[in-house]
Amino acid sequence: MDKKTMLIDRFMEVYKGEREHIRVFASPGRVNLIGEHTDYNGGYVLPAALDMNCYVAVRPREDRILRMMATDIGEITEVSLDDLESAKKLKWGNYQAGVAFELMNHGYSLTGCDMLCHDEVPIGSGLSSSAAIETVTALALLGAYDEKFGTKTKVDPVEIAKIGQKAENNFVGVSCGIMDQFSSAMGKKDHVIFLDCKDLSYELIPLKMEGHKLVITNTNKKRSLAAVKYNERRSQCDPALEILKKFLPKIRFLGEVSKEDFEKFGSYITDPVLYKRARHVITEDDRVLKSIEALKANDLVQFGELMKMSHVSLRDDYEVTGEELDALYEIALTVPGVLGSRMTGAGFGGCTVSLVKEDAVESFTRIVTEKYRERIGYDCTVYVATVGDGGREL
Ligand code: GLA
Repeated sequence: MDKKTMLIDRFMEVYKGEREHIRVFASPGRVNLIGEHTDYNGGYVLPAALDMNCYVAVRPREDRILRMMATDIGEITEVSLDDLESAKKLKWGNYQAGVAFELMNHGYSLTGCDMLCHDEVPIGSGLSSSAAIETVTALALLGAYDEKFGTKTKVDPVEIAKIGQKAENNFVGVSCGIMDQFSSAMGKKDHVIFLDCKDLSYELIPLKMEGHKLVITNTNKKRSLAAVKYNERRSQCDPALEILKKFLPKIRFLGEVSKEDFEKFGSYITDPVLYKRARHVITEDDRVLKSIEALKANDLVQFGELMKMSHVSLRDDYEVTGEELDALYEIALTVPGVLGSRMTGAGFGGCTVSLVKEDAVESFTRIVTEKYRERIGYDCTVYVATVGDGGREL
């Protein structure tokens, strides 16, 4: 049975009523190939949408109530469109309420509706399950309104991404950048997104992997305090920027500082921690540009080297890797046929992404799984990544 029919059947079991006005939407998680912790610094990122989605089946209601349930939770959460702020304290449903709140704030009209969510992006994995939920919820809420009133709201995916980011900032309390929501809304099958986060200009670049695979490995670490540590890293970038602004008055973001200027003025950042944070952002930005060149020239060996350098910088300068991600990184590099590997996403647990020769994927999976279990004491999960499309209606 296809996914759409499966979700509609399940929706009918939960909410009953008519089948006719149910619509189904999907939005993916993402893997970032390189450019980590650069987005909120006005830098470059290079993510791709995954063929792993969050789905929502939705049907409008006559009133202003949002009812929502996830297939793996089995309990309906209810909130009124006129009292969304109270949903901030919900254990489940705050993302959806946040998106509804931000949509209305941006001038969109909404109707109450019933929603059934089905998530395939592993939660807390660093593959952007949150952005997938936010993007698909925005599409579903707008779809429900159109279904009820026979309208056709013009949906700008970049605006949807910004709304998702706002929801996460204001309702979930993570001061995330725009990368994840942008990837979930704008992704394209078999393409990577080269995004300049200072002005959201972007280019979709065909991903030519010829004989190679991107392999994602999940540490399966239970992340604790990740949001707090994320916000802390983010807040360390501002004072470093302020110091550099004294010498480079035109800059607005660390992402605008060239490596050469950092070599000249970086030493004025006397706090060693702030210096390292800035050095990561500035060198990582440079690595993204070099990666684009390498990918366009089909030089996967060079791209693999840049991935490794990125991981080292995230480990030593930005200090967001930790034992589990470092274990995956180190083990991956012992496997013949691995060109590069690095953590992807916010860090503190989550996943790595490795560039692996196609005929080495099997040995990669076996060796990484065994050695990780030996070293860390529990299992990792390995997925061979397929790059899919961004948010859409099924
Ligand atoms: C999380 C955030 C993104 C980005 C990455 C790190 O995924 O949501 O905005 O900052 O971490 O690159």
